[in-house]
Amino acid sequence: MTPRRAATPASATSHQLWGGRFAGGSHPALVAVNRSIGVDIRLWPYDVELSKAWATAIGEAGVLTGAEVRKMRAGLDRVHRKLAAGVEPTASDEDVHTLVDRLLHDEIGAVASRLHTGRSRNDQVATGSRMLVMRELADILGAAKAVQKSLYDRARTVGDALMPAYTHLQRAQPVLAAHWLLAHFWAIERDRRRLTDARRSAGVLPLGSGAIAGSAFRVNRKRLARTLGFHSISPNSIDAVGDRDFMLDAVYALSTLGTHLSRLAEDLILFGSAEFGFVRFGDAFSTGSSMMPQKRNPDALELARGSAARVTGHLVSLLTMLKGTPSGYNKDFQDDKRALFDALDAMHLLLPAVAGTVHTLRFNTSRMRDAVTGSMMATDLADHLVRKRATFREAHAAVGSLVRSAEERNLELNELEPSEILDAHRLFDKSVMRDLDPAITISHRELDGGTGPGAVARQLAAARRTLRT
Ligand code: ARG
Repeated sequence: MTPRRAATPASATSHQLWGGRFAGGSHPALVAVNRSIGVDIRLWPYDVELSKAWATAIGEAGVLTGAEVRKMRAGLDRVHRKLAAGVEPTASDEDVHTLVDRLLHDEIGAVASRLHTGRSRNDQVATGSRMLVMRELADILGAAKAVQKSLYDRARTVGDALMPAYTHLQRAQPVLAAHWLLAHFWAIERDRRRLTDARRSAGVLPLGSGAIAGSAFRVNRKRLARTLGFHSISPNSIDAVGDRDFMLDAVYALSTLGTHLSRLAEDLILFGSAEFGFVRFGDAFSTGSSMMPQKRNPDALELARGSAARVTGHLVSLLTMLKGTPSGYNKDFQDDKRALFDALDAMHLLLPAVAGTVHTLRFNTSRMRDAVTGSMMATDLADHLVRKRATFREAHAAVGSLVRSAEERNLELNELEPSEILDAHRLFDKSVMRDLDPAITISHRELDGGTGPGAVARQLAAARRTLRT
C-alpha cells in the first residue's frame, strides 16, 4: 500500500477532538489503528457520568454559567438515554470520549464545546476505567460469593462422608468430604479480600489532572471525588494519567480467582471421571458429544481451566505493556482495556457456571468411602507409637516395614494379621487396630483447621459467618 493522506478525511475527522494543528486528514491506516471505540464503548456510562460531574465542577470554578451547566447536564442525560437505547457509533467516532462529545453537540449545539475545558482524554479515560473497575468488581464479588455459597451448601449436606485427601495426587489420608469442599471455599474467600482491595485501589480520582500537568481551572477535586464515588484524589497529575496499578491489582485479583476456579475445576473433572467416580455432573451442567452418545462432559469446568490461562496472560500483557512506557500517558495504554475487559468478562461468565456446576453435583459417597484404603492410616499407626513415647522417626520406620510387607503381598494395612502388626514394634498393643478405622483417624484431628467432625462443624460455622460479610 502506498502511504498517502486520506482523499476525503471528512468521514474520519468530522468530529475529531484534535484535528486543528494538521494541514490534511489522517491516513486511513492511522485512523484504523487509532480507533478504539469498538472496545472502549463499554466506558460510556462512566464517561457520561464523569462529564456531568465535570460540567458542575468547571461551573463552580467559573468556566460555565449556571445556565450552561444545567444545559450541559440535561444534554448529557439525553446522551445517556440515547446510548442506553443502543445508538451506534459512526465511522468518525475515534473513541468513547469523542462519541459522547459528538452526541452532546447533537443535543445542545456549540455550548458543548466548553465541556472539554481543563480536561483531557488522558484523565478522562483513567477516571472512567477506574469507575468501571469499581462497578464491575462489585458484581464479581457477588458472583464469587455465590460460588462460595454453593460450596458451603454442599459441604453442609454431604454430612459425614469420608474421602481420601491426595498429595501428589496419591492417596494420602482420609478426610471429611466437607473438609475438601471447604478448602475451595477459603481460597475464594481470599479472592474476595483481594477483589475488595483492588476496588479500593481503583477508588483514587485522576480527574483534574488534565493531560499531564493538572487543570488550569481550580476545580474542587475532593467534591468531584465524592460525587463520583471515589474515596480520595490522586496526589500527582503526572502519576495520575500514567498509573495503571489499579488495573494490575484488578487483573491480578481476577487471575488468582481464575486460578482457584481452575483448581476446583481440576478436582471435579478428575473426581467426575469413571476412574474416580466420586461425583456426577448434573444434566443442566453437562454437555454431550456429537459422536459418542454416552458422554457427559464437564465443559464449564474445562472452560474455567482455559479461561484462567487467558486471564493470567492478560496480567502478563499489562505488566509488559507498562514496563516500557515513560511517565505520563502513552497510547500503549489504549490496549489496557482489552486485557481488563476480557479478564472481567471471563469471570462474569465463569462464576455462575461454576456455582451451578457445584450446586448440581451428585456425590457418590460410597465410591468416596471405598477409595479410603487401609494403608492410608499408616500415619495413624505411627502416631499410635508416638503416643507411647516412641520417636516419630522410629515409628515411621516400624510402620514403613509393615507397609512394605503388606505391599509385597498386595494387601492393605488393615488386612494384615494383628499379630504381624504387634510384632513390628514393642510399643504396639491391641488398641492399634482401632487406629486402622478411618472414622477413628478423623476423630483424632479435632484441632482447629483439622478434619475432625467437631473441627469441621466449627469451620462450617465460620464459613457461614463469612458469607454474611
Ligand atoms: N482512547 C484512548 C485510550 O484508550 C483515550 C485517551 C487518548 N488520549 C490521547 N492523548 N490520545 O487510552
